[in-house]
Amino acid sequence: MIFKFQTKTDPISATIIAFFQEQKPDRALLGVSKMNLISTHLKQKTFKAEAGEIVSTHLMDKARTQKILLFGLGKEEDWNEKQARNMGAKLVRAAKGLKEKEVTFILSEKIQSTLPPFIEGVILGNYDPVIYKTGEEKEKKEAAQIKTIHLLCSSWTKAQENAVQKAQLVAQTVNDLRNMVNAGPDKMGTESFADHAKEIAKENKYKFTEFNKRQLEKMGMGGILAVNRGSEEPARLLVLEHEPKLKEEPIVIIGKGIIFDTGGISLKPPSSLHEMHLDMAGAAVILGVFKLLKKLNIQKRIIGITPVTDNSIGNHSYRPSEIVTTYAGKTVEIMNTDAEGRMILCDALHYGITEYKPRYVIDLATLTGACMVALGFRTAGLFGNDQGLLDLIKSSAEKTDEPVCHLPITDADEKAMKGKLADLTNLAMDHGYAGASRAAAFLKNFVGNSKWAHIDIAGTAYSKDPKDYETPMATGFGLRLMIDVLEKL
Ligand code: BES
Ligand code: ZN
Ligand code: ZN
Repeated sequence: MIFKFQTKTDPISATIIAFFQEQKPDRALLGVSKMNLISTHLKQKTFKAEAGEIVSTHLMDKARTQKILLFGLGKEEDWNEKQARNMGAKLVRAAKGLKEKEVTFILSEKIQSTLPPFIEGVILGNYDPVIYKTGEEKEKKEAAQIKTIHLLCSSWTKAQENAVQKAQLVAQTVNDLRNMVNAGPDKMGTESFADHAKEIAKENKYKFTEFNKRQLEKMGMGGILAVNRGSEEPARLLVLEHEPKLKEEPIVIIGKGIIFDTGGISLKPPSSLHEMHLDMAGAAVILGVFKLLKKLNIQKRIIGITPVTDNSIGNHSYRPSEIVTTYAGKTVEIMNTDAEGRMILCDALHYGITEYKPRYVIDLATLTGACMVALGFRTAGLFGNDQGLLDLIKSSAEKTDEPVCHLPITDADEKAMKGKLADLTNLAMDHGYAGASRAAAFLKNFVGNSKWAHIDIAGTAYSKDPKDYETPMATGFGLRLMIDVLEKL
């Protein structure tokens, strides 16, 4: 999709007029015929400009008919960044109904004050994957794809044009990330994930290290290797380094990369099993971040780490009751092989912290169903040990509309994660509650004094309750948030 910046009406393309309640039709922007059209509708109350309201009409002159949609934006005083994102998504979906390759959006100046979220909404709302469809449905969806959007406003500044381009780039990367997460393990396996990371590194000239299974064995990454034992594909630990300033203490970001989570020997029930290709969504966010760091010119030393493996069943799978020695040297008794995320993250955290001595470390993980039970599909769980870092993440989350809720790690949670025979257990067996906090309490054993935040995206990465700019399944949650956080940290 291309945006073109216009200040004059394009009479050829189909046009959507986005309009606030009580807005005065602007003759200079609309031209006489569109102004008359909208004035008539307003007068006859056939269009009230209520938020999301759509009226389909047309204009005719001697030569041709021009399709017109009137699109209501609601009250101007209710307009904010969140509304702009939601309306951008609704607007592009309405525009697709026109079945035109080229459309014009006539926008008021008010929208220019919230351009980045508005454009994000347009790109995110446009997401509708067709790659696996065939036949008529595929053709229909492809026919509805818009190639060019003319953004028509009374004036454009270079800064506004740049803001559109940045928002477009970030949102398009969120859509790429949605495709990655939506792909099942047959399409996006351990090797293809690693290849994808390598490509990103090559394209952007990042330093890239791929630790293979043999190297992980040598290093003693017992957590990752235990989870990988039942799998056909050997595990990897991938490290991407963006180092515009070599001397600086870096920020380390880590994502859980479970290609498919069967639960292992502690097998998951079929009702949720088919969704478990989502379990690499945290790692996919890390790749998304690295697609953007260079392009957005983020001049900070940032290290991305993703442990990648399936959690499969096989003759060699790790079993409940085994004791695993992690990379940090701490031993963990396995009570449930489905609590595998913490087993791969603990090694990645210890590696990131000891190797890079970061000023901050943040991990994103589809870690616990418990977090989804607590917070649903729109709010992620936030844990950590540094108030400043937590506050910054919270404020970014508000801005990007990727809400987080700070949840506690209590002394009781930490105590519950102590092992009977080993140092730690991967699942407390006393009761089934506080699962998200207890998983975070487990991870806390591997961060030492580092300033650390953990974001549990189990509910938000893959939604059954999509927002206006989301579709069911992969949401791409966390990428816009991480970019905002990294820009501010
Ligand atoms: N990948 C799951 C968590 C998950 C559940 C993500 C639902 C997205 C949607 C994780 O590895 C897991 O299985 N967690 C278990 C932990 C339990 C065994 C302690 C869970 O939450 O049920
Ligand atoms: Zn699991
Ligand atoms: Zn998992």
